[in-house]
Amino acid sequence: MPEQQIERERWGTRLGLVLAMAGNAVGLGNFLRFPVQATQNGGGAFMIPYFCALLFLAVPLMWCEWAMGRLGGSRGHGTTPGIFAILWKHPLAKYLGVFGILFPLAVVFYYNYIESWTLAYSFFSVTGKYFGIATREGMGRFLADFQGLNSPWQVSLTAYVFFLITFAVNVWILSGGIAKGIERLANIGMPILFCLAVLLVVRVFTLGTPDPAMPERNVLNGLGFIWNPDFSQLANSKVWLAAAGQIFFTTSVGWGAIQCYASYLREKDDVVVTGLSTTMTNEFVEVILGGSIAIPIAFAFFGRDATMQIAQGGSFNLGFAAMPVVFQQLPIGKILGAMWFFLLFIAGITSSVALMQPLVAFLKDELGCAHKKAVAITAAITFIFAHVAIFGLKAGALDELDFWAGTFGVAMFALIESILFIWVFKPDNAWNEIEKGAQVKAPRIFYYVLKYITPVYLLVIFISWAFQQGPAMFFMEGVAPEHVGWRWAARLCIVGVFIFIAVLVAKSKKLKELETGAS
Ligand code: TRP
Repeated sequence: MPEQQIERERWGTRLGLVLAMAGNAVGLGNFLRFPVQATQNGGGAFMIPYFCALLFLAVPLMWCEWAMGRLGGSRGHGTTPGIFAILWKHPLAKYLGVFGILFPLAVVFYYNYIESWTLAYSFFSVTGKYFGIATREGMGRFLADFQGLNSPWQVSLTAYVFFLITFAVNVWILSGGIAKGIERLANIGMPILFCLAVLLVVRVFTLGTPDPAMPERNVLNGLGFIWNPDFSQLANSKVWLAAAGQIFFTTSVGWGAIQCYASYLREKDDVVVTGLSTTMTNEFVEVILGGSIAIPIAFAFFGRDATMQIAQGGSFNLGFAAMPVVFQQLPIGKILGAMWFFLLFIAGITSSVALMQPLVAFLKDELGCAHKKAVAITAAITFIFAHVAIFGLKAGALDELDFWAGTFGVAMFALIESILFIWVFKPDNAWNEIEKGAQVKAPRIFYYVLKYITPVYLLVIFISWAFQQGPAMFFMEGVAPEHVGWRWAARLCIVGVFIFIAVLVAKSKKLKELETGAS
């Protein structure tokens, strides 16, 4: 089908591609989720299971996903239903691929909402709206009021308006397409993100000892706090699962979203070096920049015990309650606050468009939808289901979406894709796909890692998640009765969207042709 190959969009430049892929990976996970995970799971010792997961899961799977995406794209299929059907000539293949669209969507249902808080808080910082609320408890109440947790509506007007704005910007970018929408956003956003993050790190490093009366509360000790290894934690399987979870979340590997971006590569483009450089950019931003801002600054201002408490309170508590208190105590705090929240906003939006693009690509590739129509359908679905995350926030609908898509789902999908690409498609074909066009060959050892270590590692992770956390999640242990309804709503929206996409998969003539080998 040569005409489709000509029609398919492409990335404009190589730099643009790298920035877009880095933008895909660098997100709220790098600045909010990572420092909290590291603090909760053994500090510096967390880095051992973390780097194991990076080396044995993320890097090999990332190469697979780039190669799969490029292969699919060269035949006009940018999402996993089509890609899996190319790899495995079996009627089931395309249905397994549905997960590669579904799970990113399930994440974006709540991700857009959190992203909108960062935009709102950028404004609140500039205008000084929260200035004068001097305690973390006070800021916690400010956050709860902003979220509308105490209102009968379960959402505040301000939060809802910022959600609408954020959502509209997302849709506007998607409607620009790959090169003129997503790539342009990354070209502008990523350098800004980088500068903001570096400036904030410099600010943190030059803080010294904010309160001379408490000399132990200083930045150096703050860095020590996040990095001092507690090796006893390594015996705990929870820490290993948390590390794998963080790696999947931050690198965007294991979702189907990388395949989609990679499907806009040219057939002879390199994936080995380019893929690795974007993954490593994400790691730099996460470990070096993300690890040096929120936790060390919290330590310098609140001390050891409070920082532990803050981290136990979760990412939102750290980012939206503790940080604003600190900004109020610093010179040019309004600007610093605005920098922090706008940094989060850019990180968020370059990821949220990546979470929605698979559905857009699917509708265009497999059903022949026009671009505008594909974006409109995607926007409608994300908009409707985002309301489950918004109104069900207190009930934990977000946690429900996050667990089934982002923990259980991602391990399952990664397992499926690794088996299909490596074992069904055959190890040598898979390796050749990866090495095709490579500027530098991938170390041969990864061939064996891919063949044996990655699938076994994934299997262990998947089974542990399913059995350690699965039953408690499934039976909603400890969930208040009045929250059960919203949690079911979250589950139903995952099942409903699955059915919706599966029906479209069944209808697609292009996917049918793949099975009969006509293309
Ligand atoms: N990596 C993003 C972050 O760190 C979040 C994310 C998870 C994501 N899965 C994804 C982004 C899939 C794009 C595609 O915040």
